[in-house]
Amino acid sequence: MAIACDVAVFEAVEAAGREVEAALGPVDILVNNAGISPKHQGLPASVLTMDPLEWRRVVDVNLSGAFHGVRVFGPGMARRGWGSIVNQSSVAAKTHVGFVGAHYPSTKAGLIGLTKHLAGELGPSGINVNALAPGRIDTPLMRGIDPAVNAAIVEDTPMGRLGSVDDVAAAALFLTSDAGHFVTGQVIDVAGGWKLT
Ligand SMILES: NC(=O)c1ccc[n+]([C@@H]2O[C@H](COP(=O)([O-])OP(=O)(O)OC[C@H]3O[C@@H](n4cnc5c(N)ncnc54)[C@H](O)[C@@H]3O)[C@@H](O)[C@H]2O)c1
Repeated sequence: MAIACDVAVFEAVEAAGREVEAALGPVDILVNNAGISPKHQGLPASVLTMDPLEWRRVVDVNLSGAFHGVRVFGPGMARRGWGSIVNQSSVAAKTHVGFVGAHYPSTKAGLIGLTKHLAGELGPSGINVNALAPGRIDTPLMRGIDPAVNAAIVEDTPMGRLGSVDDVAAAALFLTSDAGHFVTGQVIDVAGGWKLT
């Protein structure tokens, strides 16, 4: 079931939450995956010329969007005493990568702070909270970028390929299943060894 909503707008996430729970029942698993990384002719804006509105939009979607998801679905998880939350961060949160703007790693690092805080605050309610830090994953987000950039990343990736959506989904599946429920507050790179820290 798919419901379109703008995660940057709290009321929209609230309405989507009501719709999904009316149709499917309580939500026990939340993956805050929506994210943007604006480009201009394939390149990120320089911080020296970045439109403040662009900065704000990236914060609203990438960081506040995750808060909105937790704010909408967290109370039910806490009431039922079981829940699992995954925040989609990025290896860009932890180091410089040249093909994103300053807003992107700032929000992705913010998600790591949010993850660690929530693991502490919501653990007593039976909710585990982790972050994934994907490397270069073959999705529409990265297809706007010069192919030479991706080729250079493959060259620099010990496992010798870009990631797939299945690589990321498998890590999310582990963290949100009973098998991974005692894992909390962690950031797991899904990056084939790219940008190892
Ligand atoms: N692809 C990569 O290499 C990579 C690497 C690290 C992290 N990530 C992160 O993984 C997540 C998914 O990225 P992707 O590569 O699949 O990107 P994508 O652009 O292919 O998909 C992003 C999704 O987010 C949705 N979205 C964007 N703005 C939204 C909004 N305001 N409200 C609701 N939905 C919105 C889009 O509709 C789209 O379905 C993002 O958070 C991204 O930052 C991706």
